[in-house]
Formats: sequence, structure tokens, C-alpha cells
Amino acid sequence: MGAEPLEIHLDDQDIARSLRRDVRVGLTAREKWLPPKWFYDTRGSELFDEITRLPEYYPTRAERAVLAQRAAEIVELTGAKTLIELGSGSSEKTRLLLDAFTQHGDLGTFVPLDVSVSALEGSTAALAADYPRLRVRGIVGDFTRHLDRLPTGGRRLVIFLGGTIGNLLPGERAGFLAGMRAALEAGDWLLVGTDLVKDPAVIVPAYDDAAGVTAEFNRNVLRVLNRELGTDLDPEAFSHVARWDPEQEWIEMRLRAERPVRVRVLDLDVGFAEGEELRTEVSAKFRPEGIAAELATAGFRAERFWTDPDGLFGVTLAQAD
Ligand code: SAH
Ligand code: AVI
Repeated sequence: MGAEPLEIHLDDQDIARSLRRDVRVGLTAREKWLPPKWFYDTRGSELFDEITRLPEYYPTRAERAVLAQRAAEIVELTGAKTLIELGSGSSEKTRLLLDAFTQHGDLGTFVPLDVSVSALEGSTAALAADYPRLRVRGIVGDFTRHLDRLPTGGRRLVIFLGGTIGNLLPGERAGFLAGMRAALEAGDWLLVGTDLVKDPAVIVPAYDDAAGVTAEFNRNVLRVLNRELGTDLDPEAFSHVARWDPEQEWIEMRLRAERPVRVRVLDLDVGFAEGEELRTEVSAKFRPEGIAAELATAGFRAERFWTDPDGLFGVTLAQAD
């Protein structure tokens, strides 16, 4: 069938507008911050894929183990006709589900949604070639803004893998889940992957790998700003920081200015003192009871919760009430 042309809900102007807004808010805040979606230009998406293969980065391997073991059960329980993937990236692990749907199910359409055009172009072409009977409809969109644009009708399964839900702040996460519920009909399904709380000695190296790939991924946001906004931030002036916050139970990635940095951005004059940090990402870790409670608040019933054999990563299958 071939992949359909990408459906664009985020054009260049829209992206430029929202980057300018985020920079204006984030870089003038008392504690500077930027949302993590700006990591993912072509290079950022490639660096993330490299991260998933690092020895220290366990979440991808652990989630893949769960999906490999449970794919047939997910097909049987959901009976989905349409599979929608949010923040789909390369959709590599999703193949485990697509294989199971091909063998045991009746899936007609796969709809990956991502902010990264390059990731979608790559994944939709490859999936359309490998699953010729499947309709592949990629959407360029933002899962915090465009849930009302998802396809309707038929039994739907939305998947949100990798632990990306943990990159939303708690308030954003509640808003996302409520929006997700509003976009679905009672009986539709949500499969969500969450990294679990564990010894920080396991978590921190996953965000501060020996080869320095995560550091490059972190600095990539500065390259995105330089290209999109014409700034001249020197990525090498900033060092990579990955810090476990035991109260919030999340990892924070930050960029620390190693010397004073001044930059003209938009109509702003932004200064970093030596040692000042810019928060670029939080990556929340979850407890099983917390996940079920958040889903229930949003109007989902958690029907299954699975982990990999080492108990590192959780996958919850929930149904819209
Ligand atoms: N699901 C894949 C990729 C995770 S990386 C996996 O499990 O390996 C996170 C993905 O989410 C990236 O592809 C990034 O481009 C996308 N993303 C991040 N913020 C987004 C947003 N607000 N809306 C849509 N996609 C987003
Ligand atoms: C996409 N997301 C779930 C990753 C994470 O683990 O929070 C992004 C990432 N950041 C650093 N390494 C990977």
C-alpha cells in the first residue's frame, strides 16, 4: 500500500512560534528551563536512537522485553482495528505489536504521531514496506496539543512507549491524560510505558553514559536554538548534568554554563552566570500504584500491569471507562 503522505499539524511557522514562546518563558525564568521536545531535530532523533543502544540505557531493552512477552495478549485483549502511537520516534519496539497484530489480529491502520518529521519519514517508509497490508498514516503533531486530531471510529489502541510520559511535568501529565481520555471513546485502550523508581545508581548512569552520547543529545538543544533563532550559543561552554531528585523521584537533565555566557535571543539579552544551569528535561520514574491512580483520575481503568524480569520498567494496559 505504501505510506500515505504525512499529515502536518505543525508547520514551520507553528514550530517557530512555539519555540519563540518557550524560549521567552523559559530563558527569562528565575530558574532557566526549556521543554524537552526541542531536542528532537534530525540529529536529536538520531542521538536518541543511539542512546537506546547504550549499555547503560536500560529502559528500551526492558520495555522491549515486556512487549515481546505480552504482544499476543495485548492483541487479544484490545482487539484493536487502529493502532495510534504518540511520540513514535523510530517505532522499532512497535514492530513487536505489529507482528502480533499481523498474526493474531485484525489491525487495519497504524498512525504514528511525532514532532520529528525526519523520524516519521524514516519510520513510515520502513513500516509500509515491511507491513504491506497495513495503512500507515503518519501525523506530524504535538501530543500536548493535537490529541483532538487523532483518527476516530473503530476499536482504538493508543500506545505511548519509552517512558516519554515521564518527560511531562506532573500538571502537564494530568492534562495530557485528561485530553487523551476526551479523545477516546469508552472501551478504547491506552498502553503506556513508564520507567520505575529504583536505585539511583542504576538510573543516573542511564542519563550520563560513559561514551557521552546523552551529553551530546542534551547539548543538541543549543544547536537547535542556534539554527532556528540565529543565536550563537557555544555548546562546548555548557557541561551535561544528570541529577536524581529523590523528592520528585525524577532525573533532571541540565546544561551548566562553565563560564559566563551572554546571548542575544529574540529581543532578549540573556545571561548565564558561571555555574548557572538550564533545565532541559525531567524524566519521572513511577511506582505502580501511582500510575494506576493517575489513570483512574483521568477516567481509565488499569487492566494489566507488566514489568520486565528485572522489574526495571512497567507497561500498563488501561481501558477508557
Ligand atoms: N517511542 C519511542 C521514542 C521515544 S523518544 C521509544 O520508545 O523509543 C521521544 C519521542 O517523542 C521522540 O521521537 C520525540 O520527537 C517525540 N516527542 C517529544 N515531545 C513530543 C511532543 N510534545 N509531541 C509529539 N512528539 C514528541
Ligand atoms: C524519550 N524519553 C523517555 C527519554 C527518557 O529517558 O526520559 C529521553 C532521554 N533523555 C535522556 N536520555 C533519554
